Order: sequence, then C-alpha cells, then structure tokens
Amino acid sequence: MSDITLPKHIAIIMDGNGRWAKKRLMPRTAGHKKGFDTFVNTVETCSDMGIEYLTVYAFSAENWNREQGEVSALMELMSRGITKYTPDLMRRNIRLKLLGDIDRFAEKYRNALRGAEDYLAANTGMTLCICLSYGGRQELVYAFNRLAQQGKTEITAEDISANLYTAGVPDPDLIIRTSGEYRISNFLLWQSAYAEYYFADVFWPDFDEKELQKALDAYTKRERRYGR
Ligand code: FPP
Repeated sequence: MSDITLPKHIAIIMDGNGRWAKKRLMPRTAGHKKGFDTFVNTVETCSDMGIEYLTVYAFSAENWNREQGEVSALMELMSRGITKYTPDLMRRNIRLKLLGDIDRFAEKYRNALRGAEDYLAANTGMTLCICLSYGGRQELVYAFNRLAQQGKTEITAEDISANLYTAGVPDPDLIIRTSGEYRISNFLLWQSAYAEYYFADVFWPDFDEKELQKALDAYTKRERRYGR
C-alpha cells in the first residue's frame, strides 16, 4: 500500500472491553487491562506506519456514570499505564495531547496525565490524542464559551475549529469503532464532518494489526468526494 493512500489522522472508539471479559467469565476490569495492551500495540503500529495523528476515545463524559469500582479501576489503569508507557512514547518521538474535561479527574491522576503530556510536548513524531472525560457536545459548548469570552459577535467555522480541544489537529480521515456497534456516541462531532467510518465486529481487546489493516484497506478503496 502506498503512503499517499494512508489516512493522516485515524480516530478510534475502543468499544467492547466489558463484553470481551464477560465472554471469558472475567471481571470487566480485565477487559480494560487487555484493552490497554491493544491500545499500546495500536499506537506502535500506527507510529511505525507513519500515521501522523491517532486519537482514541478512552473515557467519555458519560462513563462517569458507571459503577464506582469500575471508574476507579479505569482511572488507575489509565494513569499508571500512561506513566509506565511514557518512556516508550518518548523513544518513539510521540507527542501526547489530552482532550476533554481533565479537571474532573482526581488530582493524582490529573497530575500524572498532565505530567506525561508536558514531558512529551516537544516531540515531533506522531501526535497521540487521548480523549478523557470527553464529549463532543461538551467540547462545542466549551468552544462557543471561549469565543463568547473573546467578545466575538460573528463566528466562522475556522474560529470554532481553533477553539475546540483539538485546536491545531487536522480533522480525522478515518474513524474506527469496534465491537459491532454502529453509533457515534458523541465522539468528535464537529471534526467528523467528512470522515470515513469503519465498523469492526471484533471487541476492542481483539483489534490487532490484521484488523487495523482491514480498516486501512477499506479506507483506501473508498473515494472521498467531500460533497463534490
Ligand atoms: C469501552 O468498552 C472501553 C472503555 C470505556 C475504556 C477504554 C479504555 C481502554 C481501552 C484503556 C486504554 C486507556 C487509555 C488511557 C488510552 P466498554 O467497557 O464500554 O465495553 P462494553 O461495551 O462491552 O461494556
């Protein structure tokens, strides 16, 4: 496959950790743990391929409503996991960008995540965006409020893009959702205007390089017309 046909920005809704675990009579947190390994593998594959931007939906604004034990386990897993993985991200020259209402996280988790983001900020390789406490509508409200605070009375599409959490990140070319669900779930609502969608039947922990390649193959076969 030639590089020209590769998406510049891939975004992924990593769905199905719970069901992956349930199928194996394991606790849901075991699914998240395996899901984290799949995330690491996906980051490495994308970075090796020369993908410029990878965005993953790790924790939605709605996920706060899950059972307290699962939320705490996810917080631990995500902050510890990212901290442990940061030296590898550094070696790979990967920049980290956190998207969402990170202030809702308890201080220790917030500090760990922001610390990794700051440490990797000057890197020039792939940009890895992790959506945490993220919601697409919430992001638009955030952008509109910022514009109001700037005293804007007439706003352009460029103004909106420049005030989202994703400011400076190009719109995704390909959005993948795993686990056989066909929903957007409040993910990158503004940015997905011209994205191609790909739905994989496998649960997120089983989304390996072969599955990623299938998504890329489907993407390259599609003709993007942008309404023309
Ligand atoms: C969706 O599966 C997955 C999540 C809510 C958590 C995603 C987190 C990871 C994969 C860990 C990666 C972490 C980082 C920091 C990138 P689900 O629990 O909704 O599964 P279900 O629909 O089968 O119940």
